Amino acid sequence: MRPNLLLKLVHSVHTKPSDSDSVTSALSTTPSEKMDYQQQQQFQAHGMPQIPSQPVQMASHISQADQDAIQQSLLPQRSTVSKGKYSLSDFHIMRTLGTGSFGRVHLVRSVHNGRYYAVKVLKKAQVIKMKQVEHTNDERRMLKLVEHPFLIRMWGTFQDSRNLFMVMDYIEGGELFSLLRKSQRFPNPVAKFYAAEVTLAIEYLHSHNIIYRDLKPENILLDRNGHIKITDFGFAKEVTTVTWTLCGTPDYIAPEVITTKPYNKSVDWWSLGILIYEMLAGYTPFYDTTPMKTYEKILAGKVIFPSFMHADAVDLLTKLITADLTRRLGNLSGGPAEIRNHAWFSEVVWEKLLAKDIETPYEPPITAGVGDSSLFDHYPEEQLDYGATTEDPFAQYFVEF
Ligand SMILES: Nc1ncnc2c1ncn2[C@@H]1O[C@H](COP(=O)(O)OP(=O)(O)O)[C@@H](O)[C@H]1O
Ligand SMILES: [Mg+2]
Repeated sequence: MRPNLLLKLVHSVHTKPSDSDSVTSALSTTPSEKMDYQQQQQFQAHGMPQIPSQPVQMASHISQADQDAIQQSLLPQRSTVSKGKYSLSDFHIMRTLGTGSFGRVHLVRSVHNGRYYAVKVLKKAQVIKMKQVEHTNDERRMLKLVEHPFLIRMWGTFQDSRNLFMVMDYIEGGELFSLLRKSQRFPNPVAKFYAAEVTLAIEYLHSHNIIYRDLKPENILLDRNGHIKITDFGFAKEVTTVTWTLCGTPDYIAPEVITTKPYNKSVDWWSLGILIYEMLAGYTPFYDTTPMKTYEKILAGKVIFPSFMHADAVDLLTKLITADLTRRLGNLSGGPAEIRNHAWFSEVVWEKLLAKDIETPYEPPITAGVGDSSLFDHYPEEQLDYGATTEDPFAQYFVEF
């Protein structure tokens, strides 16, 4: 049986030495064990969504603004082509770690150095059917270029006639989603720790003109020490001004995306608000039984804050989960620094956090170096069609892989 993560979390919250200079100084707070009345009502009304929500997307088009943006790119202009670097024969394919709309992510082991990696496999036919060619090429390009302690590192890509493969570091601690569902909700300082690391990662992406567009606990992994790594750049896009594509995950989508208005980076700050809310409450603020009902709630914009939420958190969330772009924190003249300087984050020493010089609130119970994957859910394995060298009708779409 899996360990009781709520107990572990609470245990580690109580036993970590406190550091008055760091975000963990606030970790002596005891999580309230009881749901308040409002929360009970929510759970009774909706039940807890146990299944990670699926992202939605629509066919994307490249606007003139986006083309200009790509030309004015702030990212290093080095070639991102990695042909011939890896091939299927370099890895033993092991169990499935996660599945998505276009393929699955496997734990793999290098036949050369014995190290473990995660390989995301996308079926070309599926990518084309779902009109995701541009997003998939963007995913590869963004992943190849970004370099940040809280973002997944990709080592390279390759392809066969049917599939695309992306080789990444394997992050053993599992999804923040799993920890959150097992813990029900996080104590204020724990949510703050994860939110602070996410804030630095998103700020880094935005400073390089990348919108992430799919922030949610399923895409946030925990490394062996308990620091976050954001994975899944499937909707990440380099944009200097605005873009239009409807994509993201229903519960996390900003209202301006739903109404297909031109939108900018601040959609990620909206999603940060939803993420913080979900970590603190255990459910998302606009949760409903169908995406359509969720969209209606998002557009209505009424957020109910549980009484146990800290007043500073409520203040920050009110400023992030706001439809009015002239009032949304992160999108104002002070930029993302205004989020970092908000009272809820007052104990965070950002330089120390970036240097990972802060104790994490929870250390995943993993055995290092042996490809331990006990913190990942199990998925039915399927017959793999990897390695085909037959004629490839889709080759022209994925020349960089
Ligand atoms: N580098 C990684 N290490 C460990 N697990 C990973 C890694 N990348 C992805 N996963 C797992 O696979 C799941 C699906 O990967 P993701 O890139 O999010 O695909 P999708 O676009 O289908 O959502 C993730 O939610 C996570 O559980
Ligand atoms: Mg994902």
